[in-house]
Amino acid sequence: MKKWARILYQPVLPLGENKRVLTGSPEHIEFSRKSATEGMVLLKNENDLLPLSSNVTVALFGIAQFDYVKGGGGSGIVHCAYTRNIYDGLKIKEGEGKIKVYDALSAYYKSEYARLQAEKPETLVGQFDDIEIPGELLASAKKNADVAIINISRYSSEFVDRFSERGDFYLSEMEERMVNTVVDNFSKVVVLLNIGGMIDTEWFYSNNKIGAALLCWQGGQEAGLAAADLLVGDENPSGKLTDTFAKRFSDYPFADNFNESEDYVNYTEDIYVGYRYFETVPGMKERVNYPFGFGLSYTDFEISSPAVDISEGRVRISVDVKNIGSRCGKEVVQVYYSAPQGKLGKPARELAAFKKTRLLSPSEAQTLSLEFDINDMASYDDEGKLFESAYVLEAGEYCFYVGNSVRSTVRADISYKLEEDVLVKQLTRCCAPRDLKERLRSDGTLEPLKAFDAPARRIGSIELPTGDKRGMLTDVVDGKLTIDEFLNQLSIEQMIDMCTDSKCIGVCNTACFGGCEEFGIPPLPTTDGPAGVRVLANDNGVYTTCFPCATQMACSWNEELIYDVARAGAAEVKENNMVIWLTPALNIHRNPLCGRNFEYYSEDPLVSGKAAAAVTKGIQSINIAATVKHFACNNKEINRTNSDSRVSERAIREIYIKGFEIAIKEAEPYCLMTAYNKLNGVRTGANYELITSILRGEWGYKGMVTTDWCTLSLLHEEIIVGGNVKMEGNDKALTLQAYKDGKFTRSDIHQAVKYIVELALKLD
Ligand code: BGC
Repeated sequence: MKKWARILYQPVLPLGENKRVLTGSPEHIEFSRKSATEGMVLLKNENDLLPLSSNVTVALFGIAQFDYVKGGGGSGIVHCAYTRNIYDGLKIKEGEGKIKVYDALSAYYKSEYARLQAEKPETLVGQFDDIEIPGELLASAKKNADVAIINISRYSSEFVDRFSERGDFYLSEMEERMVNTVVDNFSKVVVLLNIGGMIDTEWFYSNNKIGAALLCWQGGQEAGLAAADLLVGDENPSGKLTDTFAKRFSDYPFADNFNESEDYVNYTEDIYVGYRYFETVPGMKERVNYPFGFGLSYTDFEISSPAVDISEGRVRISVDVKNIGSRCGKEVVQVYYSAPQGKLGKPARELAAFKKTRLLSPSEAQTLSLEFDINDMASYDDEGKLFESAYVLEAGEYCFYVGNSVRSTVRADISYKLEEDVLVKQLTRCCAPRDLKERLRSDGTLEPLKAFDAPARRIGSIELPTGDKRGMLTDVVDGKLTIDEFLNQLSIEQMIDMCTDSKCIGVCNTACFGGCEEFGIPPLPTTDGPAGVRVLANDNGVYTTCFPCATQMACSWNEELIYDVARAGAAEVKENNMVIWLTPALNIHRNPLCGRNFEYYSEDPLVSGKAAAAVTKGIQSINIAATVKHFACNNKEINRTNSDSRVSERAIREIYIKGFEIAIKEAEPYCLMTAYNKLNGVRTGANYELITSILRGEWGYKGMVTTDWCTLSLLHEEIIVGGNVKMEGNDKALTLQAYKDGKFTRSDIHQAVKYIVELALKLD
């Protein structure tokens, strides 16, 4: 196929075997279902209540059995041909003779749900409150069913944050009443959670009348069936939490900072995010219901004591994992370290490596080898307590813990000891805080923070080629012109056009990057993710596959699976003649209330970075561009275009951009998207220290940098600090005037456009 033919001619060329269409195909939908089972997390299973046997009749409670949420809203929404809810999933299993559903109860919910939908057609899924069940129906359900299944669903979306009250983080009054009714009437009770972010778990954690709980997440279009697969034991749960589930909302670190102001968020908890907080700060351990890394299985595993080898700057750990139960299953081995408290203070545990086994039959064993760099354990000294603006390994003992959750580990016999502090990497101060007054220490006290001003810096100028060679972009492809020579022919107006969006092509609905017809530069169509390709099916009839939400994929802890799902999604991008996928999104789950947590992976940067790297590799394996986003510290939706994330440099580096660093170094994404918010007073899209000093300078990022859509900084402000494309919202006349006023130079915009052309050259 001719280069860029898909963009230019929008052909109808399916990518499946024997020329079958992959987009929304049965095999992709089946794959969505399989991947959904692997990311679901079994939280509770007293007396082996699950899996349910074939002679069991279940009574389904809660409107959520029909009010099913396949994924979150906003740019992450996926328009698929159908969704399978919990009721439908269990009915399929009933058809296979694996369970019975007490239909009269579900029929009542179904008709009430239809009535409510008709009454309030504008209400989104997951936002209907529960309903009262007539006494007679309850009595007959009690008589006819052996097990009650409580269904709870939640919806959240880009643009809005969640709330910490009843009906979102906590159960609504109606839901609570339903739960109480069920536990009063049934001795066997299972809970299914169809949610995209953390909610309260105390109501089933502390209630011994509730025997089992399965966290199904927002699992894509087939997750009702995927959950049913697990409930009847056709599949064995192997997901593990990538977040800590605390007792109360107020237990999360500085939970109330989230809504203190619309104009800023103080990240006072510093590096003590998620389990780093709960495992470290005195008194907080008891405030956890389900720890980071936790998840049950229908079988048991034995993890041998770890063999540790430390040499050549690497820590290598080997363990044998044996299935000692009676069902096939997979286990996730997690390696944590503890660093000496020293002068900087450290979390009690930090994840260093993880690996999932293959499917192990009863009695089968597998040896897993995990490794990481000694330097990965270094901390960032942002105030010069030892070595200013440097990664440092403090003197003392570094211990290793191996197990299957942050709480369930064995300490390795061998540790790593340092006699003296070691300067690992000298860097320079970047993105330092201006208005954050204090931050948390590991002992739970606060320390005052210095205030820094961000110096105004810009990229340097380059020497532009002389001569007036002429040619098309294909001449660059053929080696007849260098990119620099090629770009010399473009006018400033054409370059400004290249640095902004151009209109949508085909089914693309998020516009294209650049393009310049006169010189044969194709516009590059973009499309959203991460749970599948977002095109507006209502308008064009293209229904794509809805895969599980990002958090659920991360909970699989299975990098190969994550890679394969991303590759399948990318095939749908390609089949629909688009080339840039605006995914993966890897902002940190700082607080449960962020409306977009479902699009992000974890509270932990290693899990986030590894997932994003796997996604990037999967997408780019078929030459579609991945876009890591939103760089950085966009952890809140309300007023996101103006909210200032006030964060210490240490927390930025160790927590909030660490995942980006991992993904960039491991997978070299072709694109990166900056965020809407300000970071310590400076807009991320116009942030020299973020884009040029750290991203390009320290990490050697070679890809293209786009803004998020309609950011508030101006194109010329973005270009002079190293940004390349401003997506939507640029005023071209204003940018041209800025050029005439000397606010940016030809050299500045030449450098920006070069990254766009390089991107086009990489793509088919
Ligand atoms: C979102 C991005 C998305 C873009 C294009 C923005 O509102 O923050 O994640 O890729 O829109 O739809």
